[in-house]
Amino acid sequence: MTEERPLAELTRLDGKVAVITGGGQGIGLQIARRFSEAGAHVVLADMNESVHEAAAALVAEGRSASSAVLNVTDEAANSALAAKVAAEQGSLDIWVNNAGIYPTTPVMDIPTAEWQSVFDVNVNGTFFGARAAAKHMIEQGSGVILNISSTSGFRVSNDGVSHYVASKHAVGGLTKALARELGPHGIRVLALAPMLTVTPTVMANVSNTAAAQGDGFTEDAFFARYTDRVPLRRVATPDDMSLVAVFCVSGLAGYVTGSTIAVDGGLLAV
Ligand SMILES: NC(=O)c1ccc[n+]([C@@H]2O[C@H](COP(=O)([O-])OP(=O)(O)OC[C@H]3O[C@@H](n4cnc5c(N)ncnc54)[C@H](O)[C@@H]3O)[C@@H](O)[C@H]2O)c1
Repeated sequence: MTEERPLAELTRLDGKVAVITGGGQGIGLQIARRFSEAGAHVVLADMNESVHEAAAALVAEGRSASSAVLNVTDEAANSALAAKVAAEQGSLDIWVNNAGIYPTTPVMDIPTAEWQSVFDVNVNGTFFGARAAAKHMIEQGSGVILNISSTSGFRVSNDGVSHYVASKHAVGGLTKALARELGPHGIRVLALAPMLTVTPTVMANVSNTAAAQGDGFTEDAFFARYTDRVPLRRVATPDDMSLVAVFCVSGLAGYVTGSTIAVDGGLLAV
């Protein structure tokens, strides 16, 4: 039997170093906020240079944060960032593969380049990030990799998302395979599956739909298409995701690996 550690201690991330890809806004930024609140040093890694401002804002609030420009589709750049963080911070304990794109195009109209870009970011980016992080975690004998999947990793909610759905199904499979091979090294690998979450990109999509539909459009009707099927009858917030992300990477989830955890208001259950 191992010693029973207090719950308050198990939820803390003090001394941990976490990289969050796509951390410049939306779900990734909120995950960074909660991880830093729990005591971690967070590295926001994003292809958008505004990531530096996002990290500076966290530091201004008294949190431990830094930033890096990273395109997750660049394997060498993932490796370089992981090595830099491990060298500068002394460890690399958590890597969140959150960067993702979700264009909407009917299956018969998707340009090949768009199909490939969705797989480049959502699948290849997750693979490159996980492997870059695992190199250091294997040396440490510990670590957690958290992949941000989607309810689209399980079901198809609307038209136009065949590439996205296929990519998130792949993330679920990759999570299982990584968990199997990295578990013996003390590394847990999980995925989190958000339901529709109100982020800047989702709100931009809402605005585009409003512009296309004209007078008949209402935001409530737009979201109702999704929430009507959700037992909790609301869309998600980034904080709904970040709170479960804290659970996934904390000592509370020490025996959880390989699973994709739905944070979906009950959508997948009914
Ligand atoms: N918002 C939702 O409704 C929802 C639902 C289910 C799953 N998800 C998943 O959650 C994750 C985050 O979604 P979000 O809504 O917060 O997105 P978002 O578009 O608001 O933010 C994503 C961030 O990732 C960055 N990014 C995009 N491509 C990148 C690349 N190649 N390299 C590095 N950074 C890159 C962007 O610059 C941006 O800062 C994605 O993986 C998405 O598929 C979102």
